[in-house]
Amino acid sequence: MNTPNPALRESATFDRGVISEIQRAAETGIYDIRGWGAKRRLPHFDDLLFLGASMSRYPLEGYREKCDTDVVLGDRNAKFPLHLDIPITIAGMSFGALSGQAKEALGRGASEVGTSTTTGDGGMTPEERGQSKNLVYQYLPSRYGMNPDDLRKADAIEIVLGQGAKPGGGGMLLGQKITERVAGMRTLPMGVDQRSACRHPDWTGPDDLAIKIIELREITNWEKPIYIKVGATRTYYDVKLAVKAGADVVVVDGMQGGTAATQDVFIEHVGIPTLAAIPQAVQALQELGVHRKVQLIVSGGIRSGADVAKAMALGADAVAIGTAALIALGDNSPRYAKQYEELGSAAGFYDDFQAGKDPAGITTQDPELSKNLDPVEGGRRLANYLRVLTMEAQTLARACGKSHLRNLEPEDLVALTVEASAMARVPLAGTTWIPGAL
Ligand SMILES: Cc1cc2nc3c(=O)[nH]c(=O)nc-3n(C[C@H](O)[C@H](O)[C@H](O)COP(=O)(O)O)c2cc1C
Repeated sequence: MNTPNPALRESATFDRGVISEIQRAAETGIYDIRGWGAKRRLPHFDDLLFLGASMSRYPLEGYREKCDTDVVLGDRNAKFPLHLDIPITIAGMSFGALSGQAKEALGRGASEVGTSTTTGDGGMTPEERGQSKNLVYQYLPSRYGMNPDDLRKADAIEIVLGQGAKPGGGGMLLGQKITERVAGMRTLPMGVDQRSACRHPDWTGPDDLAIKIIELREITNWEKPIYIKVGATRTYYDVKLAVKAGADVVVVDGMQGGTAATQDVFIEHVGIPTLAAIPQAVQALQELGVHRKVQLIVSGGIRSGADVAKAMALGADAVAIGTAALIALGDNSPRYAKQYEELGSAAGFYDDFQAGKDPAGITTQDPELSKNLDPVEGGRRLANYLRVLTMEAQTLARACGKSHLRNLEPEDLVALTVEASAMARVPLAGTTWIPGAL
């Protein structure tokens, strides 16, 4: 192997990564498709800090004073809104991308701590419905696996207009994962790559969406909350249109949001960071007079209780997690380090979501590999992780003097960088300055 001359000066524009990507593209003639979210450094929740209480604010005592965590989602129009014990939900991830065992484990973990799970492209599985106390059913442009009976079996309906990892793009499931069962549920041929629609086939704008929402309410007897999920781009306008169309809940998924598979160029170059999207969404809801009445769920790069608390302080009612939930289940654990190496991947990396050879049994359709995930154990791990997120968020809220997570507010936060300050619309630490604020 040629060792590069250490005296060679690396170009900032054509660095080693760029050179190797050009070489790969020239060699193969295909673009890179991968899972996971944006890998570039983006302004994120890490760039915000809480101002704990001291003299001007009164903190709450962790061991004696309560800090509640429950949330009601979708009480604007639905007969049966969702009552969740914690404001951390499981994001929509498709059966097809995930194994049946993984879906079951997500249901078990979420139900144990009183929160919801969400289906995904490809329909509802008995594993997930069976184990999920609160199941949100996704209604996607592809309509794969869509059936009115399943709409009625769900506890809420989420109309997907886009995802943070690929706003403006459709789903993708490579042939390796289109097994007989997945093909049957999606009415597709086995083993052939699936690229699904980027927009709903029967509507061309918000007016049609309003009609669609009424149609879905009629089919489900006005019982279920209707969510609308958008990838973060022109969030201020999108949220306004979603509310006008009749959404009970708006889900905003930022650019860091995970995906099972899409083009790398899409993941890294389309959309805006989660941090930038939340204040836009909150402003839109406030101007319409529906902040806290139409609930806001935020996703995209949520990893810790600090992230949860910061999203809520900026105005979210709840958050959703995808990638972190899979890590919690046990996916890509060091236990399988050798197998990952053989796949050209590494334990803890998620680029290989699409390949379907996950030795941990989570992002695969291989019946033998799927057996490596015990849904009971996976569910237990997820429940533990969700409890930790909740306790961390409560710790921060109490330190800010808040007796409920929803009482966190932008005034509790400052930013570490000028970029984060401008995007999150909270002052730069130690100043009263918010760039761009009047
Ligand atoms: C394996 C996987 C599969 C996904 N499948 C879907 C899907 O079918 N429908 C959808 O709306 N979003 C899908 N997503 C995106 C998630 O719903 C969510 O927006 C995203 O994962 C949130 O970001 P996070 O992964 O950083 O938590 C998927 C994400 C992952 C990781």
